[in-house]
Amino acid sequence: MTERTSRKLMRVLDGEAVWPQPIWLMRQAGRYLPEYRETRGRAGGFLELCYNPDFAVEVTLQPIRRFGFDASILFSDILVVPHALGQKVWFEEGEGPRLAPIATLDDVKRLGADKDPLEHLAPVIETVRRLRAELPSETTLLGFCGAPWTLASYMIAGRSTPEQAPLRLAVYRDPAFVIGLIERLVETSIRYLVAQIDAGADAVQIFESMGTSLPPSLVETVSLGPLRRIVEGVKAERPQARIIVFVRGGGHLHRLAAAGFADAVGVDWQTDIAAAVARLPEGLPSQGNLDPLALVAGGRALEEGIDAILAATRGRPHVFNLGHGIEKETPIAHVEAMIARVRGA
Ligand code: CP3
Repeated sequence: MTERTSRKLMRVLDGEAVWPQPIWLMRQAGRYLPEYRETRGRAGGFLELCYNPDFAVEVTLQPIRRFGFDASILFSDILVVPHALGQKVWFEEGEGPRLAPIATLDDVKRLGADKDPLEHLAPVIETVRRLRAELPSETTLLGFCGAPWTLASYMIAGRSTPEQAPLRLAVYRDPAFVIGLIERLVETSIRYLVAQIDAGADAVQIFESMGTSLPPSLVETVSLGPLRRIVEGVKAERPQARIIVFVRGGGHLHRLAAAGFADAVGVDWQTDIAAAVARLPEGLPSQGNLDPLALVAGGRALEEGIDAILAATRGRPHVFNLGHGIEKETPIAHVEAMIARVRGA
């Protein structure tokens, strides 16, 4: 068995219906783990954690040691890319991310002008390199980045916004600005993902977390087109790369699947998984989609949620996961119970 075929998640991404399904969780390193809270305290802050390879490797490995997930995801954040492009980014305790908003095409032209963003991201790439050396051989290592539309929503609003009103207004009022920004993000994301793959990431995931706020008439221009250019750009340089695209928004999921460039599609928790996979191309690997709150609740809600996903996806290439990031209130015992149920199925 080669290294690649010993990694169950890679076999799924190559189209095999592996059973029991491989499992990992979005945001599997995080505040629901006491050891994460301890390391974050020592690091002094969230971005300090992301840019210090000693701490970042430590928190990435914590959920692997505790739960033995089939995949490990690099500990970082999608917002390190705007930060690397020179935008001011900070995290307010308990309030989520803050950025100094950008507003014009001139602002876009200044992005990355002072320093090569890849230089700024060097500690993150060093974290990937060390992780591949330290992880068990059978554990898949995932890198990631944010999709341009999702990143643009933070870069323009300066914070999380429920329906991305500032971004949607900007794209209607000044399309050249938003398209220019998205193009800048496409180029940087290709270089960033190639660097992660060269450092040892087996596969990468692109997060289109703001896919619920896409005007249908603009989906192709601001989301699918840019995602396709990233995937094709990375594959032109590293043909062995495997790329998972996670999208929130069920309608968007099917347009993405039909577009045919993603190696696998991540399904959000609002989407009916049975109906969704029935419409996916037969061999296209899927991932997801337990409601993170079913995992917080535990008990029957959790068991029924797991069983419904397994029943809908058995016989097709599927990676078990949540339909969005794990919540910080999640009891550790519920994570253990979920893994046991998926592996015992
Ligand atoms: O999954 C992992 O374990 C890898 C690390 C990872 C983080 N963020 C760590 C993190 C990944 C893959 C992300 C992606 C990310 N970051 C997304 C896309 C996925 C999604 O959730 O939709 C987005 C939109 C962000 C931006 C971001 N970063 C937000 C909105 C927040 C605040 C959320 C919160 O719960 O407070 C962050 C902070 C963040 N990123 C934390 C972690 C563990 C919590 C920070 C802390 O320790 O206080």
